[in-house]
Amino acid sequence: MALLEILHYPNPLLKERSLPVETFDAELRQLAEDMAETMYDAPGVGLAAPQVGALKRMVVIDCSAHEEPADLIVAVNPEVIAREGDCMEEEGCLSVPGYFAKVARSARVRVRYQDLEGQTQERDADGLLAVAIQHEIDHLDGTLFVDRLSSLKRSMFRKKYLKMLQQQELEEA
Ligand code: NI
Repeated sequence: MALLEILHYPNPLLKERSLPVETFDAELRQLAEDMAETMYDAPGVGLAAPQVGALKRMVVIDCSAHEEPADLIVAVNPEVIAREGDCMEEEGCLSVPGYFAKVARSARVRVRYQDLEGQTQERDADGLLAVAIQHEIDHLDGTLFVDRLSSLKRSMFRKKYLKMLQQQELEEA
């Protein structure tokens, strides 16, 4: 088990499209374990492999928050196969620390993915889980939640965020 480094915007790897996973081996299981540990430690409700620099189509999600038991989903090659309704919830991202904004998403989704043994699974989701699934799958296509804001909001984000980064660098210098 190991904590992985989470890449932050504007790291160019976050804009890359991740590749489908074809080999379900010990290395993949280790990456999934390390991603889950990193997510829980952050803490966050979801993490996609490209956020830790691995351009593989795999995400980990646990929206059970402080409830017991934990509900960890490890989804390999996930895709939304059905969607219904609209929602607009506030989102954040471990790769964009300190910034939150409302994003338009589907309210309910059915997701198809493979588990770590390569078996196909399907799951219906609504609420926070539906939002998290869409957010994490976006990461696999190089899309951040801030890319889904209106162009005005996006340019406000860039200004504010880059200013924040500069201040952090000054403080660390
Ligand atoms: Ni994210």
